[in-house]
Amino acid sequence: PIPASLAPPPVVEPPAARTPDDLKRIAAHRAVELLESGMVVGLGTGSTAAHALDRIGELLRRGVLRDIVGIPTSKKTEAHAAAVGIPLSDLHAHPIVDISIDGADEVDPSLNLVKGRGGSLLREKMIEGASRRFVVIVDDSKMVPCLGGSGLAVPVEVIPFCWGHTLGRLRSLFEGVPGFDVKLRRAAVAAGDGGKDEPFVTDNMNYIVDLFFENGIHGDLDLISDKILRITGVVEHGMFLGMASSVIIAGKDGVTVLDE
Ligand code: 5RP
Repeated sequence: PIPASLAPPPVVEPPAARTPDDLKRIAAHRAVELLESGMVVGLGTGSTAAHALDRIGELLRRGVLRDIVGIPTSKKTEAHAAAVGIPLSDLHAHPIVDISIDGADEVDPSLNLVKGRGGSLLREKMIEGASRRFVVIVDDSKMVPCLGGSGLAVPVEVIPFCWGHTLGRLRSLFEGVPGFDVKLRRAAVAAGDGGKDEPFVTDNMNYIVDLFFENGIHGDLDLISDKILRITGVVEHGMFLGMASSVIIAGKDGVTVLDE
């Protein structure tokens, strides 16, 4: 036998590089660990929340979790949750939700969020606002110093009736803000397929107007929120201020949990 001192060192495989989707899955699985049997659970929308749905379905099938009732935040989530075997209900039957788990487009240092890139912001805000605990799951690319600063839109759900008028009032509200722009969301842009050039329609049959802030949103966010919501024709916006109980952030060096 070769003396140990002369033997070649064992080959150590480097850990496989984690893709952004791996990080989303890691954050989602960590959040699902917070669930207990019998809970009413708000089910988020998007590619990160989808991992939570898959995990909840798996734990229900294995009998690790029992009697979970899911409250879906979109039609897409409703279909996904049903397909993985999560029993579903709504806020009529369950006005108080034990815990909601959802992704976000941006998270600032105060745990304020921008949500709604998937267009589900209204149902998300209703269900997450009715939750005892709202757990946000993100990969670390979603952390920003200031909301609106990542170049992504802050979405506003508007009534289709005279949407151009509402868009104009939103434009006036931010007049003078350098780099500000406002656009009606198009279905083709949302799907990323260059298809039909029609307005994107939400689950509530409304439109989305996207607000772009080149340098992020500065000022009193609660005041800005109130001013947006006071415009007749606006239904809701995608800034989720002071709503998150915890944010679970998965990065390549591990998971960080921030609590409010
Ligand atoms: C949908 C949302 C999503 O939670 C948000 O867009 C994050 O999505 P993803 O997990 O796919 O990055 O608010 O309305």
